[in-house]
Amino acid sequence: MDNDTKPSREIAGRAEELRGLIERHNYLYYVLDQPEISDAEYDRLFDELKEIEDKHPELAAPDSPTRRVGAEPLAEFVQVRHPQPMFSLSNARNEQELKDWHRRVSRLLAEKGMDPETAAYVTEPKIDGLAVSLVYEEGRLARGATRGNGEIGEDVTANLRTIRAIPLHIRKKKGEKPPALVEVRGEVYLPLAAFARLNEERVAAGEPTFANPRNAAAGSVRQLDPRVAARRPLSIWCYQVGYTVGLEIDSHWQALEWLRHHDFKVNPHVYRHETFADVIEASRAWEDRRGELDYDIDGTVVKIDSYAMQSVLGVVGRAPRWAIAFKFAPSTGMTRLLEIGINVGRTGALNPFAIMEPVEVGGVTISKATLHNEDDIHRKDIREGDWVVVQRAGDVIPQVVAPVTQKRTGREKVFRMPERCPSCGTGTVRPAGEVVVRCPNKSCPSQIVESIKHFVSKGAMDIDTLGERRVEALYRPRDRAPLIRNMADLYFLKKEELVGLEISRSINKKTGKEVIHRLQEKSVANIFRSLENSKSRPFHRVLFALGLRHVGYINAQLLASHFRTIDRLMGASEEEIAGVEGIGPIIAEAVREYFEEPHNRETVERLRQAGLRFEEEHAVKAKQPLAGKSFVLTGALPAMSRAQAKEKIEALGGKVSGSVGKTTDYVIAGESPGTKLRKARELGKTVLSEAEFLKMIGE
Ligand code: IVH
Repeated sequence: MDNDTKPSREIAGRAEELRGLIERHNYLYYVLDQPEISDAEYDRLFDELKEIEDKHPELAAPDSPTRRVGAEPLAEFVQVRHPQPMFSLSNARNEQELKDWHRRVSRLLAEKGMDPETAAYVTEPKIDGLAVSLVYEEGRLARGATRGNGEIGEDVTANLRTIRAIPLHIRKKKGEKPPALVEVRGEVYLPLAAFARLNEERVAAGEPTFANPRNAAAGSVRQLDPRVAARRPLSIWCYQVGYTVGLEIDSHWQALEWLRHHDFKVNPHVYRHETFADVIEASRAWEDRRGELDYDIDGTVVKIDSYAMQSVLGVVGRAPRWAIAFKFAPSTGMTRLLEIGINVGRTGALNPFAIMEPVEVGGVTISKATLHNEDDIHRKDIREGDWVVVQRAGDVIPQVVAPVTQKRTGREKVFRMPERCPSCGTGTVRPAGEVVVRCPNKSCPSQIVESIKHFVSKGAMDIDTLGERRVEALYRPRDRAPLIRNMADLYFLKKEELVGLEISRSINKKTGKEVIHRLQEKSVANIFRSLENSKSRPFHRVLFALGLRHVGYINAQLLASHFRTIDRLMGASEEEIAGVEGIGPIIAEAVREYFEEPHNRETVERLRQAGLRFEEEHAVKAKQPLAGKSFVLTGALPAMSRAQAKEKIEALGGKVSGSVGKTTDYVIAGESPGTKLRKARELGKTVLSEAEFLKMIGE
């Protein structure tokens, strides 16, 4: 052996080792979502391997992780025949059809001499993406193809290689040889957050948007340039073992276990059931909970577990008898955005919202959706008159995801925030550096009524007998002069003015006549009782209920425990207020401004007369209002990064932990939250949106 080959053998060894390490960390990151090293460390390993392969092209294995990106564009896809046909699924549109399927299957099994009582079932989320087949020869990913017509698909190996959750090799287990051939099937999908981001980028680049995540995933996989596919954060859920040579498996559940043990990404929400009653329950459960997933599902798939039973049941047409899809109503829809409306909030913020032609999304008819703010509307390039993609995720407010730009006629109107407040006509302002446009008029009727709604809300005075509609009716009655002009007036109402007050109108479905709903004596008595109860709320809650700008629950606690009485707080200078730990100059200025207004002082006086508490009785842990509280973050937060959220929580004495458990106090859920949200609900934990969290800490 000469001197030249010796180092290169070491280098070859190192390259092999690096490939193993990189694939291992890909698995930890993309399949398990539990990275063990930082992105920077990963990049170092990757760069080291890249350098070796660049210097020694003979060492550059075709299935190296460095080859996941950057293959040359293809002229066209080559057609390939699947080693075993890829079937489709028949559908059950409701529970009855699912039961009918069960009855048919049971009868057939019995006819063939099998005991249907012994059948076990597997339920899985039905992923709304693109079905693919991955063929591993001697443990190496040899080919990846789309489903195509079920018999023949397109060879999209180069694109599928870019998906980090797809193993390039079947991991060797101790004493095990990889099967000579194994075909793994699964659904490639694009996470919802990535879908929204992709559409934003496409609008910015003047490219047509995708109508839903499935189209985006399919468009990315059926892309002739693998470098484009590589930029799309696609992932996969593997749900079936197809054709095999040298691998014996007896049941679907066993197949899923085999996949999981060999580093394939198997959905965590697959379950095996012994009874059909459990199958029904599991199938139904996902209909309500699908909003907790960060990918689209359009149903549940039910499969008979045993392969022996599967083969007895066989296939009719294109669909096997041993499986069925229990379909849900789609969670995205398309409709016309008729107009952009504006709500004026308590602090004068003008909040735009979409008024749409009613459309059914996720089984519910919606006609309104939030639009966040002006910048967001422009970033997404949403125009009045556009066809838009709307999305409803769980119990989250419907959102406008993107315009369908290819449907534009040229008559769409670019949105401008109004120059005058739609409630009071005052000229609006947008302070430099803020995304929000405001009405500066402190006596704006919308702001006042919203501030009263805040005053009575949960966490503030908690007057639960006064909902938003009742507050509106007191402030703007249809048939008489206003009963209240501010929050203090609530405590000076008279019973006789309230009895018979019109709250709302509706149409009786049977008679077709309009019905007027009025306050009855009993409801009035209840309102007075809860107003009375509210007088015992501690000072910090009263202070929070007043609704000073920037003074959320936490800041109200800080101020109340420092100054102890409203008089001391009102008498404090801006510097003194800013000197309180956790309170900065912006909050101090807002507090001073509030108490400078004569009508605010008057409100405070009248509330004091009414008997509300303006002195703190018990000391609150001042500096660290979140001390001892444990938070868990899940999903993408709209306005801040996770690191920022963590910093805020820790600055206030709280802790952030990675998983929901008994000791968790709050879960902050952003867009497309994961399973942590489900866990939180199961354990009955308080779930906050980002906005609620910010309100809590007074930002
Ligand atoms: S099993 C015969 N399992 O649904 C079994 N399919 O409508 C065929 N799909 O082409 C597939 N999630 O693209 C199976 N957990 C899952 C699935 C799933 C999504 C898709 C797949 C298939 C289509 C049939």
